[in-house]
Amino acid sequence: MIAAIDPGNRNTKFVGLQQNPFIFPSAIGVNDLERNLKRDPGPYDFEWRYEGKCGFAGTLALEESEYAESRKDDSKAHFDAKLRTLIALHRFGAGNEFDIVVGQPIETHTDSEKLAIKKMYLGRHDLTLNDQRKIITINRCEVSPEGAAAGLLVAPNTGMIRVIDIGSGSVNFATIINRKFNNRGSWTFTEGMESKRDLQLAAFARQIASKAIARKWLATDKVYLVGGGALELHPFLMDYFRHSQLIDDDPSTANVRAFLMIARRVYG
Ligand SMILES: Nc1ncnc2c1ncn2[C@@H]1O[C@H](COP(=O)(O)OP(=O)(O)OP(=O)(O)O)[C@@H](O)[C@H]1O
Ligand SMILES: [Mg+2]
Repeated sequence: MIAAIDPGNRNTKFVGLQQNPFIFPSAIGVNDLERNLKRDPGPYDFEWRYEGKCGFAGTLALEESEYAESRKDDSKAHFDAKLRTLIALHRFGAGNEFDIVVGQPIETHTDSEKLAIKKMYLGRHDLTLNDQRKIITINRCEVSPEGAAAGLLVAPNTGMIRVIDIGSGSVNFATIINRKFNNRGSWTFTEGMESKRDLQLAAFARQIASKAIARKWLATDKVYLVGGGALELHPFLMDYFRHSQLIDDDPSTANVRAFLMIARRVYG
């Protein structure tokens, strides 16, 4: 089965063929399994066992874990991202064999990081989730740039568009010209909605806009906003980019929906 996963620093997004996207908290707690009081499990309450480790994830980690963290990292070549992806495939993926597309920030979308991510995913994974064991086999894996990929949802055949992907731990800036990624106009700022001690929306919007303007983005450019911070920052970014708009009515899942579009194209 073909599936797309965006294992974000705050929220994991999953979508499969003919499915609506799912979003669950990326938080993971390790070694938390002993509980005297058990609650009725919510849809995103997860107990996991994998590679000799165990713990909570999702809403269960947020609410019950003593050690819950959602690792906010510039790259997604690490155990936490892998576990988020595998949980998504276990819980929402149809069948046991998958061809997947996952995301990586633009700045670290390098050959060596992409290779590390592919190596991490390809092959067989034995994951027990809420006492259900599933052997997940990943046959093919591609790594797509966050933010830039989302631009493909709207990019025309001619002309240039910009995308700003405002996540919890990073902001991706992307430029797409004639439906092709433009490397020079694309990069990552490694702070996001949850990187500040006291987030001030207007000040953060000014910081984001200033970084783009320094790279010669113009006030008249066609700018699309995606990611969980898009809705809140849009009114403030309008002061700098007057044609900026939300990519559609669900900017949080724009990246993962674009990954699925790419997966269909690559895997047929
Ligand atoms: N209902 C919500 N639940 C969680 N976060 C929300 C919600 N509404 C808006 N947000 C904002 O969205 C942010 C998460 O956005 P998003 O899911 O795009 O980040 P991410 O992809 O997990 O992070 P990154 O791109 O840095 O890996 C949160 O930090 C918060 O500021
Ligand atoms: Mg993101």
